[in-house]
Amino acid sequence: MVSKGDSPAPPGVPDSGQGLVLTRGDITREAVDAIVNAANSSLLGGDGVDGAIHLAAGSGLVQECAGLGGCPAGEARMTKGYRLPARHVIHTVGPVWQGGSAGEDETLASCYRESLRLAEEAGLSSIAFPSISTGIYGFPIERACRIAIREIRAFLATARCVKTVKAVAFSDRDYETYRKAAAEGPL
Ligand code: APR
Repeated sequence: MVSKGDSPAPPGVPDSGQGLVLTRGDITREAVDAIVNAANSSLLGGDGVDGAIHLAAGSGLVQECAGLGGCPAGEARMTKGYRLPARHVIHTVGPVWQGGSAGEDETLASCYRESLRLAEEAGLSSIAFPSISTGIYGFPIERACRIAIREIRAFLATARCVKTVKAVAFSDRDYETYRKAAAEGPL
């Protein structure tokens, strides 16, 4: 099931896919203008969604990444998508959870803002995010998804090019966490 954050499509009306779209699945299969990778600061690949994206994209991705000189936490870099259905990959480095008083919330918010800024500047129309930092980096998803939804909604309120921002949950539990948070209204 796919639903928008603020105004779920009326029953029976195909979702136009505009705005914040919550979905569940494998982000490497998303045929959008850009998928976001939850990378590490080397940008040279890893496990989790980073590993899945590099595996699906093929070796051209890591070769392009190697020329970028890494990426600090909270920032983002864009590459081509290679063998992925997505045209581009936007690599961002989330915070490692340290208990919540080391600026993790702001770094995570910056990951979403910077990724969306790159997409907008490139004139992209659609982008898909995984749940950044909520896997290996240990950021509690209940807290992380509220930051994600808040930043995506704020961006969409003034965006000119990007029309669709998908939040792709990798499990039913994560999808339900996002759905409940989105239904709470302004976060
Ligand atoms: N599609 C969508 N989401 C996925 C996929 C996938 N194919 N694979 C994993 N996920 C989800 C996880 O379930 C989690 O919710 O992506 C979210 C982020 O988890 P991680 O991939 O572990 O990323 P993160 O917590 O940000 O840790 C980043 O892990 O892989 C390394 O190199 C990476 O060092 C970096 C660290």
